[in-house]
Amino acid sequence: MLEKIKATANYISAKAGIKCDTGIVLGTGLGGLVREMEILETIPYGEIPHFPVSTVDGHAGRLIFGKLGSKTVLAMQGRFHYYEGYDMKEVTFPVRVMRELGIVNLFVSNASGGLNPEYRVGDIMVIRDHINFFPEHPLRGRNEASLGPRFPDMSRVYDERLRMNAKQIALENNFHLQEGVYVGVSGPTFETPAEYLMFRKLGGDAVGMSTVPEVIVARHAGMRVFGISIITDSGVPGQIVEISHEEVQQVAMAAEPKMTLIMKKLIESL
Ligand code: HPA
Repeated sequence: MLEKIKATANYISAKAGIKCDTGIVLGTGLGGLVREMEILETIPYGEIPHFPVSTVDGHAGRLIFGKLGSKTVLAMQGRFHYYEGYDMKEVTFPVRVMRELGIVNLFVSNASGGLNPEYRVGDIMVIRDHINFFPEHPLRGRNEASLGPRFPDMSRVYDERLRMNAKQIALENNFHLQEGVYVGVSGPTFETPAEYLMFRKLGGDAVGMSTVPEVIVARHAGMRVFGISIITDSGVPGQIVEISHEEVQQVAMAAEPKMTLIMKKLIESL
């Protein structure tokens, strides 16, 4: 794996020749951030050695080096979900490569179903903590000590200062941010009412199908992490209605300007 990570990172640095310390996984709701970027270089995933290839919706993923304000960032447009059939080593490989490229700050976004009865569809939740409910662990197997410790600490996964700054940004721009616990599940089914209730009882505020694997690997590698989630549907008893991927996308799009603003300002403040 080490050789693959190095080969992939070498390919990317040779191709782009751009150094930066901040990476963004452009999950649901952050597509608009690309429009805020001055694009310096793009590399389609298909050209990158050892990179998995995106399958969702047929749009091919790509890496984008760009300027967000004065800050140079590396953005992943398109992520790899466990439900697509990738194993956890594949899902998290890009994070390993980012670390090898010198990236020490990782920003991620996703869409999720709300479990906390105080949440409304369309709310944005800063991730304070997570519960890993995926059936496979990204760090299972022989540990490569040069990448991180065998038994990584998970007591402070989501950077407190970044979370505080995000709340400040929301306050200054007159909108409310929720903060809570994200439960990461395999999908691809949305939850049954009984499952939503179970995840609530277990301590979750929102449930979704991504992020946790990438974040675990980022923390293993000592990266600073910030995560944010759009509540696209409700899993609260009495409020559950039939949902589809399209509806999830629509709600996420409506929340996009707020998400974009937070990420942009937060990254500029680094
Ligand atoms: N459950 C799981 N993943 C999701 C949901 C949900 O309700 N909404 C968006 N992603």
